[in-house]
Amino acid sequence: MERKIAVVPGDGIGPEVIAAGMRVLEAVNDAHTLGLQFVHFGWNADEYLRTGISMPPGAMDDIRNNYAAVYLGAFGDPRVPDMKHAADILLGMRFQLDLYVNYRPVKLLNDKLSPLKDKKKIDFVIFRENTEGAYVGMGGNFKKGTAEEIAVQEDVSTRKGVERIIRYAFEFAKRTARKSVCMSDKNNVMRFGGDLWMRTFEEVAKEYPSIEHFHMFVDALTMQMVRAPEMFDVIVTNNMFGDIITDLGAQLQGGLGMAASGNLHPGRTSMFEPVHGSAPKYAGKNVANPVGAILSAALMLDYLGLKQEAAAIEAAVKQSVVSKNGTAEIGGTLGTKETGDYVARLIERKEMKDTKDAKQTKN
Ligand code: IPM
Ligand code: MN
Repeated sequence: MERKIAVVPGDGIGPEVIAAGMRVLEAVNDAHTLGLQFVHFGWNADEYLRTGISMPPGAMDDIRNNYAAVYLGAFGDPRVPDMKHAADILLGMRFQLDLYVNYRPVKLLNDKLSPLKDKKKIDFVIFRENTEGAYVGMGGNFKKGTAEEIAVQEDVSTRKGVERIIRYAFEFAKRTARKSVCMSDKNNVMRFGGDLWMRTFEEVAKEYPSIEHFHMFVDALTMQMVRAPEMFDVIVTNNMFGDIITDLGAQLQGGLGMAASGNLHPGRTSMFEPVHGSAPKYAGKNVANPVGAILSAALMLDYLGLKQEAAAIEAAVKQSVVSKNGTAEIGGTLGTKETGDYVARLIERKEMKDTKDAKQTKN
């Protein structure tokens, strides 16, 4: 059966990095006859400014009902200062598709890209709760525009929401043979939400006696991520803290352009995007690093059960990064497009060799 993938490049550098990722995806799709059908959607700031609509009515249901996954670039444009279309599309997918797991691996592919002196082994995973916290948009302004103005922004945690992300982190640790799970929050100050997170964490941890678990305040966590990143295997945290520490995590991998992410709801249509934003300053210049976007495509294939193909993309990306065949961010001289071509050709060449080897073995 053919599976449909919605491709949503978005704004800024989004279209360029997604084109590079598509070049790689098509190479794998052709070689392995995966039967993936890619359908492109042009929802972005231009469309929004032209029509006043960020996503047509019914589009989210169409995605939910008819697509296996969404491959997304980036959203954000200076001409839309309130981020209305970004909120509707990006946060809209996270919330309306109930993508409660934001999966953000932090893996240093090339020692030389480590920003930390003498830290060469960086390999952990961050799970960010993706449907609650400060992102729910609850709150308001009172006496707006006056000297007495009050602004309230709620930070919402539910038992169900906290439990499912914590359980996912433990399940992942078990499945991938990771040693420990660290839960991070700020329960010394945020007593109510923190208490719920802490109790839930301790309760769920009891179901996984073979996995170590520990708690760390998020301020201390940022310090330890830089001082001793090797102490982490799996980190689980709320929406806002997860947003902040995954930018730090991206930098530990050699830059924001390196980092990939999956927005998941196990068994349902899930969405895959690089961690970086739309970087309007670099748009249209063919300079953005597409590695995060290409690795997000690998996460997508892995999610769809195409493990071997995902691994083939990861191996090719690693080879390109180690040999500096990429953009300036990894010390290379290639453009965005040329990096995509390079990675795709590595895969195509390996395919040809594998096919030849297989034929020779047969003869
Ligand atoms: C991210 C981004 C988004 C977020 C923005 C663009 C709304 O920073 O995916 O990390 O805050 O979640
Ligand atoms: Mn972010």
